[in-house]
Parts: sequence; structure tokens; C-alpha cells
Amino acid sequence: MHKILVLPGDGVGPEVTAVACDVLKAVAADNLELDIQQALIGGSAIDESGDPLPPATLDLARDADAILLGAVGGPKWENIDRAIRPERGLLKIRQELDLFSNLRPAILFPQLAAASSLHAPLVAGLDLMIVRELTGGIYFGHPRGIEVNEAGERRGFNTLEYTESEIRRIAHSAFQIAMQRDRRVVSVDKANVLECSELWREVMEDTAREYPDIALSHMYVDNAAMQLIREPKQFDVMVTTNLFGDILSDAAAMLTGSIGMLPSASLNEESRGLFEPIHGSAPTIAGQDRANPLATVLSVSMMFRYSLKRGDLADRIDQAVSAILDEGIRTEDIASADTITVGTREMGQRLVKKIQTSGGAKGGER
Ligand code: IPM
Ligand code: MG
Repeated sequence: MHKILVLPGDGVGPEVTAVACDVLKAVAADNLELDIQQALIGGSAIDESGDPLPPATLDLARDADAILLGAVGGPKWENIDRAIRPERGLLKIRQELDLFSNLRPAILFPQLAAASSLHAPLVAGLDLMIVRELTGGIYFGHPRGIEVNEAGERRGFNTLEYTESEIRRIAHSAFQIAMQRDRRVVSVDKANVLECSELWREVMEDTAREYPDIALSHMYVDNAAMQLIREPKQFDVMVTTNLFGDILSDAAAMLTGSIGMLPSASLNEESRGLFEPIHGSAPTIAGQDRANPLATVLSVSMMFRYSLKRGDLADRIDQAVSAILDEGIRTEDIASADTITVGTREMGQRLVKKIQTSGGAKGGER
């Protein structure tokens, strides 16, 4: 029996997690027993209780084998006290559960090559994994704040810091993932300017000695941003800090056609984790049945692969997504002249049907 906690959140979150839950149940069917619970996070939790991560949610999260999250935030909560903004809920759950290893794959489905902002040959076959450190760096460093300085001027400040052990554990994550791929890791930093990056680079090098089969190289973040757009297929695994990973993963997402396609996994030391699309709450299209649910569906696939250790069931989800794309079914963000545009819900119904007709009822047969 696996305990799954679903946190729909705000904006398009409830729509995309509803689809993903249907897919989750369809795949689980006779293969494994699930106990699915739901709780509040982000703006919807603030509306209910004044807290973006209520204690009840955190308790359920600690108890769950895996968490599926939609998205948090929206204009409604943009002007409230910084300490209780929706995003704080997300940052807090990442930190409380120690979900330091954030995997953000950027895979181009061949069917979507034309939807990429880059020329198709540059992205055809793209399969890159960004490993982002998620519970440290400038996102969490102290001191931080906005204060009035001696000259009477307001001054905003944050602290970028990494301890050696924080760097070492994300290095291990990246190298272990690379061992299952092409064994090439590019560590992205700003070691020409930042001391923190200097240490990052040193610890990466040192940890790599335990992985003689891994080819580790280093790249400054400005160059990495350029290389992602110039020749993205040069990368296999990219490992980087919290802030750089936030930025580079959005850029990488666009290479694949739409940010609506990209899932993510945030794992702790025991591979328990939280799974979420990287696209955010998209308030302008919320509640209109227009959001692409595939990033969340693919996040469920990552849940099966990385936390529940059922790669066979993950494969079934990935194959269903691919089959739907083969049929030319698209949400509007990835549609083109010769495809069929459907809404969020219909995309979900078609996926569920695909899974039910393709999968063996027992044991994850295909
Ligand atoms: C992401 C998001 C979050 C982040 C925000 C919503 C706090 O952009 O998951 O990439 O910056 O980590
Ligand atoms: Mg982001």
C-alpha cells in the first residue's frame, strides 16, 4: 500500500492534478494499492487558514510515500506579507522534507519538434537532465531582508551560501543519475566571481573521484545559458545551484516546445519525494480547461520511477503520452495547423482510455 498525498494548489493546479490523479489511478488499477489523500497548500491554504503550508498538510506530507503537487501562487496573493506568500508554502515543504535533489528532465518528444522555439534539427532527440540543488543557496541563506540603512535608504539583501556537505550530496545525486545515462556531467557555477562557486567546483571535482566513469566538466552560468540555446544536445546531465537551476530549467523547458510538458521530481536522501510540473500556476488560463496536463502526468511517471520503484508503470504512462501525441492530440500550447486541439479534461480522458486499453490488467504487462 502506497500513501500518496495530492496538493492541487492554485491556478491551473487543481485542473492538472485532477487529470494526473485519474492517470495515477488508471495505471495503479490492479497493479498496486494506493491510499490517496488531498490537502491544501499555497494561496488556497492561505484563504482557508492564513498559512501557505498548514501543519495538517505538513503532517500528511511527512507521512506520505510520495506527494503530487499542482502549482502555487497567483495575483490574488502577490501583495500580502512576504512571510506568508504562497511560494513560501512550496519552499517550506521542500525544506522541511529535505527534498534537496531536484530532477528536471528536458526531453523533446519527437512529435513536438516543430513546437520548439529552436530550429528542429537543433533539438531533435534532446534528452537532458538538470539536477538542481533545491534546499540551499540564496533561496534559504541568512541574513536576508529589506531594511533601512544608515543613510535612510532602503536596502535589500540575501545570502548565497553552501556548505561542503550540501554540495557533496547533490554531486552524488547528479553522478548517480549520470551513471544511468551517458555519464557526462556539466557542473554550472560562477566560480570566476563567487567564492561560494569556487567551493562548489572544488567539492564537485573531489566527489567525482569516486566516479571514475563520469566525465565531469565545468561551465560558467552565463555560458551555460548561451550553450543551452546554441547547442542543447551537447548536454547529458547538468548539475547546479538552486537559483541557477531555477533559471536554466525554464530555458531548457522552452527548447522542448512548451513549459507545459516538463515534469520534475524533488527527492530526499531516501528517494521519497514531491513531484510537480515546473510550469507554475498560470493564473491567466486557470479554470478555463486550457492548461496542458502532460507535465503533471509525466510527474506521476517520475513518481513511479523514482519513489515507488515501478519503472514498468512509469513506462506505461510515458507510452500513453507518446501515443496520444502520435494521434495529433494537443492542448493549445503545443498545437499546430495539422493537430487536434483538446482541453485539459479531454486530454485526461483520452490518456486514461489509452492506458486502460494498452495495459495488461495484471503485473504491469504491456
Ligand atoms: C520553480 C518555481 C519556484 C522556485 C517558485 C514558485 C518558488 O519557480 O519550482 O521553479 O523558484 O523554485
Ligand atoms: Mg522556476
